[in-house]
Amino acid sequence: RLVRHGLRWRRPYSSIAASDIDHFRTILPPHAILSTLSPSTLNPSELDPYNNDWMGKYRGRATTVLKPKTTQQVSDIVRWCASRDIPIVPQGGNTGLVGGSVPLRDELVISLANMNSVRSFDPVSGILVADAGCILQSLTDYVAPHNHIMPIDLGAKGSCHIGGNVATNAGGLRLLRYGSLHGSVLGLEVVLPDGTILDQLTTLRKDNTGYDLKQLFIGAEGTLGIITAVSILTPPSPQASNNVILALPHFDNVQPLYRAVKRQLSEILSAFEYIDRTAYDLAVKHGQGRALSDEEVDGAACFVLVETSGGRREHDEEKLTDLLSTLRSSPSLWALREGVTEAVSKEGKAYKYDISIPLASFKTVVDTTREHLRSKGLLGEHAVKHVMGYGHVGDGNLHLNIVAAAYTQEIQDALEPFVYELVGKSLVQTWHQKLNTYVRCAASYRGSVSAEHGIGAMKTHALHYSKDDVSIEWMKKIKALFDPKGIMNPGKVLE
Ligand code: FAD
Ligand code: MLT
Ligand code: ZN
Repeated sequence: RLVRHGLRWRRPYSSIAASDIDHFRTILPPHAILSTLSPSTLNPSELDPYNNDWMGKYRGRATTVLKPKTTQQVSDIVRWCASRDIPIVPQGGNTGLVGGSVPLRDELVISLANMNSVRSFDPVSGILVADAGCILQSLTDYVAPHNHIMPIDLGAKGSCHIGGNVATNAGGLRLLRYGSLHGSVLGLEVVLPDGTILDQLTTLRKDNTGYDLKQLFIGAEGTLGIITAVSILTPPSPQASNNVILALPHFDNVQPLYRAVKRQLSEILSAFEYIDRTAYDLAVKHGQGRALSDEEVDGAACFVLVETSGGRREHDEEKLTDLLSTLRSSPSLWALREGVTEAVSKEGKAYKYDISIPLASFKTVVDTTREHLRSKGLLGEHAVKHVMGYGHVGDGNLHLNIVAAAYTQEIQDALEPFVYELVGKSLVQTWHQKLNTYVRCAASYRGSVSAEHGIGAMKTHALHYSKDDVSIEWMKKIKALFDPKGIMNPGKVLE
């Protein structure tokens, strides 16, 4: 069994009782209450989609899921839970990759899935105001006829909610061009842990009237309150978009290529994504996207996907053609890059490390981890099948994935704290290829142990690798201020 670190359960929380369900019936219609508690006839397996995370790694034991439709209903539910010390897990599309979206025990799950209406859209400013439970793809479809796009895109777009994206401060495939949600989210409506509705749903581009409270909820992973609506700036659709996949013989080609691409494509460059050979082969094996021809991939050590988005097709194509005239390239689809995550999950159980490190070290980190696992005798069909890297070069964000036949304590112990020490601040051992041995380095990369996926339940014990004690202390003070009873997503982000 996978032992999770740092998931201490300190408070005297209440479990949900049949009398609580009676109260919830005064707030919600029957179809919005899923509960196995008496006198329900619900089959417990009907709660599986809410209790199990996307990776099949984390499993909760919630007895009750509530699906409110309005902000007032969320507020009434939370107020009741606060009075009864009932812990809550806010849940969006449940596509999170760090175990943040499912209960650790029997917390109440509040699913935002029924809060899925667009509240307003202004085609002049491009400002969209939507319920938190709107699925990202549906918002993309909503703004498309107005020639706008969402400032965020990711492989989970068909399931994840805009509220979940904001709660995780998801990065995704467009961050290089449109920046993080801290910039494009203009306002939020949030139900605070005592049930109060915080209305910061402004549609203003500029608003320097004191502390910008909404920023606290962006990336708070549901630990400070429940986001019920989002006001977000949607950019105009690019007139022309092109993408190519480049097959590279060596990892050493990536960095000079990135510099050349930035120089030559400048303002039209909108994405620069990296896939190592293992990740590519896995995506192809599991039918993600269109495979390149044998000739094209022959001798390729890795691939980069370059996307341009600009205002004039001829101009952009000319720029891209100029660039490609010196490079070996093949047109392909985003599906291959976006499909890596799904291919990984089809291949086995994934240990996912989402890290910010210097681009030059992407390959070293993957190789060092692989050699470390080899030295522990853990590489093989019945243990660790693949160690691979892919991610967002433009953001300095590598996804180090270790795909195993099963989640085991032995693999977990081999990977942690090894990976975190490699990434965060500490003395580390790294594999020296030429010397064929480990060497002790004075310091690691001082990177981030979570570039874009968040902390969730997975990394609460690892926060200190990327945040100093003072920062963690102030995070705890902020949590205590907003949520003195600790009912909002307990055991997530902070231990
Ligand atoms: P959930 O998984 O339901 O929840 C995630 C966290 O947010 C939980 O802590 C939950 O409690 C909280 N939460 C959810 N909704 C609310 C709310 N309304 N109010 C308060 N808290 C809330 N992430 C990236 O950053 N970049 C990527 O490119 C990327 N690609 C992905 C591709 C795939 C195939 C998958 C499965 C995941 C990917 N992710 C990526 C992970 C990413 O975090 C999520 O996909 C997404 O942002 C989470 O949205 P969700 O609605 O599914 O939230
Ligand atoms: C991605 O970039 O594909 C996502 O962050 C998901 C993942 O890390 O697998
Ligand atoms: Zn990513």
